Amino acid sequence: MADLPVFSFDKPSLPSAGTLVIFAAEGPELSPGGRELDEKLGGAIGRAAGIMKFTGKRKTAMSLLAPPYASLDRVIVIGLGDAGSLEEGDWTNLGGFAWGRLEGRTETLSVLAETSSGPVRPEGVAEFAAGIRLAAYKFRKYKKPKEDETPTEAGSVVILVEEPKTAASLFEPLKGVADGVLLARDLVNEPANVLGTAEFAAAAEALRPLGVEVEVLGEKELQSLEMRSLLAVGLGSSQESRVAIMRWSGGADKDARPVAFVGKGVVFDTGGISIKPAGSMEDMKGDMGGAACVVGLMHALAARKAKVNAIGVIGLVENMPDGLAQRPGDIVVSKSGRTIEVINTDAEGRMVLADLLTLVQERYKPEFIVDLATLTGAIIVALGHEYAGLFSNDDELSNRLTAAGKATGDKVWRMPLAKAYDKLIDSKFADVKNTGGRAAGSITAAHFLARFVEEGQAWAHLDIAGTAFGAPSNDVNKSWGSGFGVRLLDRLVRDHYEK
Ligand code: BES
Ligand code: MN
Ligand code: ZN
Repeated sequence: MADLPVFSFDKPSLPSAGTLVIFAAEGPELSPGGRELDEKLGGAIGRAAGIMKFTGKRKTAMSLLAPPYASLDRVIVIGLGDAGSLEEGDWTNLGGFAWGRLEGRTETLSVLAETSSGPVRPEGVAEFAAGIRLAAYKFRKYKKPKEDETPTEAGSVVILVEEPKTAASLFEPLKGVADGVLLARDLVNEPANVLGTAEFAAAAEALRPLGVEVEVLGEKELQSLEMRSLLAVGLGSSQESRVAIMRWSGGADKDARPVAFVGKGVVFDTGGISIKPAGSMEDMKGDMGGAACVVGLMHALAARKAKVNAIGVIGLVENMPDGLAQRPGDIVVSKSGRTIEVINTDAEGRMVLADLLTLVQERYKPEFIVDLATLTGAIIVALGHEYAGLFSNDDELSNRLTAAGKATGDKVWRMPLAKAYDKLIDSKFADVKNTGGRAAGSITAAHFLARFVEEGQAWAHLDIAGTAFGAPSNDVNKSWGSGFGVRLLDRLVRDHYEK
């Protein structure tokens, strides 16, 4: 997470150096500070807008280089469209959009946070800053900068706003959430030779200074907990399988039932004995995107001191072919006692999640469980890289997730669960088999998980195979690993489960 700009908030004034961002509503109608600057420049902004046919439409921008005022490098005018119709969330995307318009180096980016109809609300200002933070993230740990390559970002961002103290304090929790997203991105972007099960567990343990209790279980403990389904996946790997349990107790009543998040953390998925083809196998370093989201989310909740009791559980394994690896045809007894026939060792994520689901239900009786997993290629066929698949036995939880998705841009689309699909994973030899054939691959995978959810337990499963990595970049994300789900679930908690 290196190289992020430093943020500060200050009273409005015209800065004398660096790059200045001003806003224009449809027209274009400049903000008061923008008009003042335009006068000082002899009307150059208005003339440029005419030449460029810049009308202030939402998410358009116009740049003026080296304007003859003080020693400004540049003025960027960002269009807001109808400023009155800006909704929550729009400011986050606008922050990312503005950051993306910064071409070339500038020491300082100043943002004059006012529109033609007055100062931007401090909430909007804080969101704008968070959008910049999300957009500024780059994973370049392993790339040596070329000699002629200069960084293209500002080192500091100064937001000029009527109530700087209020905006700064509203930014703090949003910064905590953004940092949770960036943490999840880092974990997904790291290669599997660097981020194995031990290193991933250490990343969970690194949340302790924020007040998160973290327990890491190794293979011995997992054996005594009878988590044979999870352990079966790691049999072929020289890395020890692990489970990390993170606990944030921020609720007014520390003993109140927690909410629970469960993540698939396959640090690398070769497919095992049912080995995958070589093409794009390198992407399987991201097969821990669910676990990365859970760690990022726990970071977010703790950093902003969310008033909630939350449990995060991640299963960390590596799926390798080997003489000790599990084989097709094997039958394992899961922690729940249900037996699983392994048809395909590449359907490993569900075997990891099955035991984690049993563990969280037995230990915590959670108010709800949301699991996240890069579970099936089939969800990419169905939904591409735009929406994650949502499967749930609970309409209320499902509707809340859908709404949180709309608000944050981490979009989810509900998929069906039905008896006829469930039948497809009945096994000849065991209680359930781990694949249901080619048809409806994401749905049968969800049904496999549902077999480990007890009667009355509210549960949702997010298949994030298309959204956790490799999704097209947008205003707030230019990274391969996207951090998908952190903002979504933080929002779910914030809107419904804090007391
Ligand atoms: N990790 C993969 C799913 C995946 C594929 C995620 C592509 C992201 C991009 C998962 O473990 C897997 O291999 N699923 C199989 C299931 C099949 C064997 C029933 C799949 O989707 O092909
Ligand atoms: Mn697999
Ligand atoms: Zn996998």
